[in-house]
Amino acid sequence: MINWDELKHIHVIRKLEAILAQWFHTDIFFVDERGQIRNGEARDLKNPLSQAFFPREKGRELLMKSIREANEKVSKSDQPHVIVSGPCGVEQALVSKISVDNDYLGCVFAYSYIDKAVPQEARARAKSAMEEWGLDPEAFDSAVSRMRVLNDGERKYFFELIDLVAQEIVTFHTEISKREERISALNNQLGTRYSYDSMIGKSKPMQELYSMLDKIKNSESTVLVQGENGTGKELIARAIHFNSPRKDAQFVTVNCSAFNENLLDSELFGHVKGSFTGAVKDKKGLFEAADRGTLFLDEIGDMSPTMQVKLLRVLQEGTLTPVGGTEQRKVDVRVVAATNKDLKEMVEQGTFREDLYYRINVINLVVPPLRDRKEDIPMLVEHFVTRGCKEKGVAMKQIAKRAMEKVFDYPWPGNIRELENEMERLIVLSGEEPRVTVDLLSQRIRDWGENAKVQGVRVAGKLKDALEELEKTMIKEGLRRTNWNKSRLAKELGISRAGLIMKVEKYGLDKRKIARGAGQAA
Ligand SMILES: Nc1ncnc2c1ncn2[C@@H]1O[C@H](COP(=O)(O)OP(=O)(O)OP(=O)(O)O)[C@@H](O)[C@H]1O
Ligand SMILES: [Mg+2]
Repeated sequence: MINWDELKHIHVIRKLEAILAQWFHTDIFFVDERGQIRNGEARDLKNPLSQAFFPREKGRELLMKSIREANEKVSKSDQPHVIVSGPCGVEQALVSKISVDNDYLGCVFAYSYIDKAVPQEARARAKSAMEEWGLDPEAFDSAVSRMRVLNDGERKYFFELIDLVAQEIVTFHTEISKREERISALNNQLGTRYSYDSMIGKSKPMQELYSMLDKIKNSESTVLVQGENGTGKELIARAIHFNSPRKDAQFVTVNCSAFNENLLDSELFGHVKGSFTGAVKDKKGLFEAADRGTLFLDEIGDMSPTMQVKLLRVLQEGTLTPVGGTEQRKVDVRVVAATNKDLKEMVEQGTFREDLYYRINVINLVVPPLRDRKEDIPMLVEHFVTRGCKEKGVAMKQIAKRAMEKVFDYPWPGNIRELENEMERLIVLSGEEPRVTVDLLSQRIRDWGENAKVQGVRVAGKLKDALEELEKTMIKEGLRRTNWNKSRLAKELGISRAGLIMKVEKYGLDKRKIARGAGQAA
């Protein structure tokens, strides 16, 4: 079943409708498989004949009858579209089939156009029919006069555009079904464990992470946590500490990138009175504060070479010397380090010490980015919304389905933190409303994927140009979507592979150029 209500949100379809209204004064009716109009609600009709028919009961009835008959006809046809006459008998409608895997799902009824100049007698016949139906024959007559007769070239474009509308509906429908399949497939893979301390996630990568955390529970080894920004590295470090035998001692965090070398030195190892200006008394360092506990060295990739040497010594010998001091102090600290940098590569480039790398990388945990575990998104959304509503003392809110789909599709470059912030923002913006609708989403999330589809489609200028632009946009978007699978895309677009390759060349859409373009835009 097509989700007809959603179609009005699809930019390509809206643009096509606008183009058709502007150039051909044609109205597009979406018709389901039972012959019911699915976009018939109050609308701005552009076709002189629909304007004459649609608002009157009798006229509407006649039009619906034509639509039902057209629906019958096209559903049985093996052609992508059929041409039918409208109620007056002088005007035509093009009816494009919407079918997926041979299942007939409905049609696009494009009303109306005039194929050839209407002969006087046909016009007179139509006028008297109008009178019989109790409709105004003069209004009808002037409507017919206002309609343009299409020439061959125009008719061809016109047909292509209507077929394109039907194809876009099919593409949209297929994408939605695929997404639903994907979600349900992913759901089947979900494990049973949905959280670990304050970490949430049921996805396979998270299950693996949890079982790894379980395994290292009683270990004393150093752990290196690697992952992009906002993936939860700190949460993991905490979980390691609070599940370890050291949990009753301190968990101390130090952000290595937040200090310059000298300050970091004294932060970590402490200093003795008078060792530098401002060192008015002895101060213990964080290593000592974390004695018998865990020291979390965040952003370890930002540590200077000198500090790397000092750190290595402490890790190897278990003793440290405060800044300005001479005597060595013993410490018993477990180190968990985190970074979003590729330390291995830094080692190869000589910016991170190899011996230190191997010393901290005894146990390696890689945190998957959110885009690789999208199946966790619904849970995380629920978690953040529940928590946010509680914190703000407002009643629990619902995220509208369409908004949820947008959240699901967005690639979340900022990972969980970005998702968390977005949910917080939504709770505030929705105010008293119990439902969070798609219009409240941040623009980048709302527009994700849409931009690629429609940017640059003009509604003014020559029809051919607009069609070309539309074609270019659709091919570009399609290539991206199919990951440059030209055979598949050609099939989806209903053209030959050779035809597609020609168009790709014509529009300069080869992969390398696009990649370069995307790089610039980012
Ligand atoms: N699995 C998760 N479940 C719930 N919340 C999470 C999860 N992972 C991360 N968060 C939340 O996302 C935010 C970012 O997490 P965290 O600070 O641990 O990430 P990070 O990798 O250290 O980020 P950065 O690279 O910016 O330092 C935090 O508010 C954290 O509570
Ligand atoms: Mg962090």
